[in-house]
Amino acid sequence: MEACTPPIQAAKQLDELTILYQFSNTMLSTIRLNKLTHLILTGLTSGSTMLFERAMLFLRNEKTGMLLGMLGVTQDTVGGLRVVEGEDALSSRWDIDDDVIDHQRESAFSKHVRSTRIEASVDCAIIRRVIHEHRLYAPGEDGCQVCEACDFIHRLGVTAFAVAPLVARGKALGIIVVDNPASNKAIDHDDLHFLQLIANQAGMAVENSILYNRVEEAHASLRDARERLVHGKRLAAIGEMVANLAHELKNPLVTIGGFAGRLVKGLPSDSREHQYADTIVKEIGRLEQMLADLLAFSRKPAICCNICDVGEILIDCFASCATTLEDHGITLARSFESGPWTTLGDAHQLKQVFLNLMLNACEAMPDGGSLHVSLGKVSLDKKCILVSIQDSGGGIPADMLPKIFNPFYTTKPNGTGLGLAIVNRILQNHGGSIEARNEGNGAMFTVTLQQAEAH
Ligand SMILES: Nc1ncnc2c1ncn2[C@@H]1O[C@H](COP(=O)(O)OP(=O)(O)OP(=O)(O)O)[C@@H](O)[C@H]1O
Ligand SMILES: [Mg+2]
Repeated sequence: MEACTPPIQAAKQLDELTILYQFSNTMLSTIRLNKLTHLILTGLTSGSTMLFERAMLFLRNEKTGMLLGMLGVTQDTVGGLRVVEGEDALSSRWDIDDDVIDHQRESAFSKHVRSTRIEASVDCAIIRRVIHEHRLYAPGEDGCQVCEACDFIHRLGVTAFAVAPLVARGKALGIIVVDNPASNKAIDHDDLHFLQLIANQAGMAVENSILYNRVEEAHASLRDARERLVHGKRLAAIGEMVANLAHELKNPLVTIGGFAGRLVKGLPSDSREHQYADTIVKEIGRLEQMLADLLAFSRKPAICCNICDVGEILIDCFASCATTLEDHGITLARSFESGPWTTLGDAHQLKQVFLNLMLNACEAMPDGGSLHVSLGKVSLDKKCILVSIQDSGGGIPADMLPKIFNPFYTTKPNGTGLGLAIVNRILQNHGGSIEARNEGNGAMFTVTLQQAEAH
């Protein structure tokens, strides 16, 4: 005669099967890692499943190998697991509301779990079994009692607990720890069996979610790169147009400037007309300089490479801005380590770099201040030359710092905003670099160039 299943046992099996189906459907329909962790732990602790009183989830950091506490859920914080009915009994799933997620996240227990990190490479029986052998740890088996995992569990104040690995594609992604501290109810064979089934599905779902996040990140960075490319192309088209315009404007300006210069010479120096003509000459000079900057920026500069001495270039720059320093009441301090400081580059363009930085510093200190220029090595083992130009002009607001090297970014009424863009471009063409930061009560620009042996 065939054995038949008693009705109570059959009802229990049906309940378990329904829970497993619901859990499986939930895992398949949830892709966000955060929500997934809440659903997994809520599923293990909710009143509808009555499996465990507390559940904690730790995920393994791939780089450090550490197990990082992600979430802890207790039956007090578990409310709100909704059953979303499907087309038939087997396609229903669970869902959880955002306010329940927030409540669970902010609970003291969850914060305690989140502040816990467990070293996964320690020699502990629990860790070895769960992380390395991918096997369930059942209550009563020995832990090492000294490692962070054992210490953590000891601090939770429980006697009986179980730990299940979250495994996907042969790798342990993390662990789930469960216990029953309020009732001290024993964790029996059926509970462990259930935990194992749920952890198996949760492992795959967590892996899918991590992969999905990675794909999303890659997609976002691809979209960024595409936007930068389109923006770059647009800038290049504008640059070409500006260069043509600048070129066409230069000739009439030279003519106007030339005639105004003649007027200045021919008019009596104390007349108002002389003063007007003189203003025209000065303003034309400024416009010419602006156009020269625009052209310099839009053209790909040809580098005339020679061995040049950075110390000499800096001294040349000091001479060029001596009157500006004097007019602004700025004291110049220089500290040059003993050289030689030779680099392979275009001395004219490198002078443009340092002069632009020094003039910016002067413009930042209209009422005087101090300019400190230093020259030295980056470090003993690197063949790099470091030039820093520091002023006491109040510095650059933090939100502006990322923008100052952008072409046309200026805060000055008469600036073109091309100075630092040109500096950056020249240094890139020389295999060098520049960084800006605030130091003391001003801005500090640090230029790095490659050192070259003088022949
Ligand atoms: N030493 C500095 N201290 C404070 N702000 C600075 C300093 N150097 C640059 N800046 C800021 O960076 C902006 C961009 O500088 P950049 O040299 O590119 O253009 P600009 O000086 O405004 O105009 P241009 O150099 O074309 O005359 C400046 O407008 C200024 O706001
Ligand atoms: Mg400038």
